[in-house]
Amino acid sequence: MNILVIGGGGREHALVWAIRKSPKAGKVYCAPGNAGIAQLAECVALNVKDPSAVLGFLKEKEISLTVIGPEGPLVDGLADALRAAGQKVFGVGKKAAELEGSKAVAKDFMRRHNLPTADYRVFSFAEDALGFVHSNEYSPAFRVVKASGLAAGKGVVVAKSVDEVIVALQDAMIKRVFGAAGEKVVLEETLEGEELSVIALCDGKTLLPLLPTQDHKRVSDGDEGPNTGGMGAYGPVPQLTDALWKRIEAEVCEPFLKGLQADGIDYRGVIYFGLMLTRQGPKLLEFNVRFGDPETQVILPMIDEDWVDLFEAVADGRLESRELRRRPGAGVVVVMAAHGYPAEPRKGDVIEGLEAVASLPGVTVFHAGTSLKDGRVVTAGGRVLGVTAVGSDLVDARRKAYDALGRIRFDGAHFRQDIGARGLRLAKV
Ligand code: AMP
Ligand code: GLY
Repeated sequence: MNILVIGGGGREHALVWAIRKSPKAGKVYCAPGNAGIAQLAECVALNVKDPSAVLGFLKEKEISLTVIGPEGPLVDGLADALRAAGQKVFGVGKKAAELEGSKAVAKDFMRRHNLPTADYRVFSFAEDALGFVHSNEYSPAFRVVKASGLAAGKGVVVAKSVDEVIVALQDAMIKRVFGAAGEKVVLEETLEGEELSVIALCDGKTLLPLLPTQDHKRVSDGDEGPNTGGMGAYGPVPQLTDALWKRIEAEVCEPFLKGLQADGIDYRGVIYFGLMLTRQGPKLLEFNVRFGDPETQVILPMIDEDWVDLFEAVADGRLESRELRRRPGAGVVVVMAAHGYPAEPRKGDVIEGLEAVASLPGVTVFHAGTSLKDGRVVTAGGRVLGVTAVGSDLVDARRKAYDALGRIRFDGAHFRQDIGARGLRLAKV
């Protein structure tokens, strides 16, 4: 069958790569794609904000499955428009996508359906938010300021002091540094613990968790510097014991499914629970309604399944609860970022060494922000490449990934040296 993937980052490269492994895949298209995706699929320019243009393309190319990668088109309701025209779509509709598109909606869902999360307040007016901070009700634990709308992972400030909270509220609500995303702000209690990404397929009735992973959101080693979209990930995560996993199933997964049903939400795609493993137990930081980036670049290579079968089962609402075939060992992805990322990434630097690493065993380089210029691969975004390695264990996977990274070069490239190091430390405890 012919398949269209929407998106053009490292996540979509991994999706196209996994889809191409399925014997069911016919011609694969990707809109817009990137220089790496172009080696596996036909990249096309499509206006995904115009559902009739997408529908016209699906008919012309006889495409029978559309897989939507990023949150933007999901929040815009593209999946609903395609489904209404009889298309098979892997990706949630507009109502479900609000769980990511509005942190205020997400927190309200968590509270109503008893999912564990930090205590919080939602504000639409700066004077109310600042009034709360100066009131008796305020406790200094409320130090996390989140723009409610979509801000590419950058709209969250974990303040160190009340003064910083005030500045963050003013930035979001008065200066509007996150634009319309800061029209509403969530102010919530600070949680402490290890972060964990639990990403699952979900058709509204069944939830099928994939490999648990840990992301690294800060730009520099030792979790220093500003937040990014994610600088690397590894999985499985050693601190996730069976007992803890049972709690996550009982306290997060099951109430989530019940909540969907109670609210009448049609959910056919991915649910990503961003969790903090606190001393009191797992607590939700956020929902995403799509695959994580870069987590997907570890998850797909580590799970040995026909992904087209899985995406179709979700799209048709006939997902079955079962154990997925997982490769033994561990996987890691390290992101190579452009000069100036995350503030002002530079474009146009020539990337060298990609051919040399293509044949390394266990290594796959997923392109994120790349394009072709005069026949050469150049940087075209903040996160440029995701170097994935699978190995017999985390030590082996890291060795392979960092060996490959050492062979790829472009001006201004930077990456974290400590992706997965936490996993190694925790495994020893
Ligand atoms: P979010 O987009 O909500 O996942 O927030 C981005 C990042 O901010 C998370 O991955 C955490 O590292 C941090 N964060 C968010 N909420 C909290 C919280 N309540 N306490 C501590 N850190 C948080
Ligand atoms: N890696 C975090 C995210 O995809 O939101």
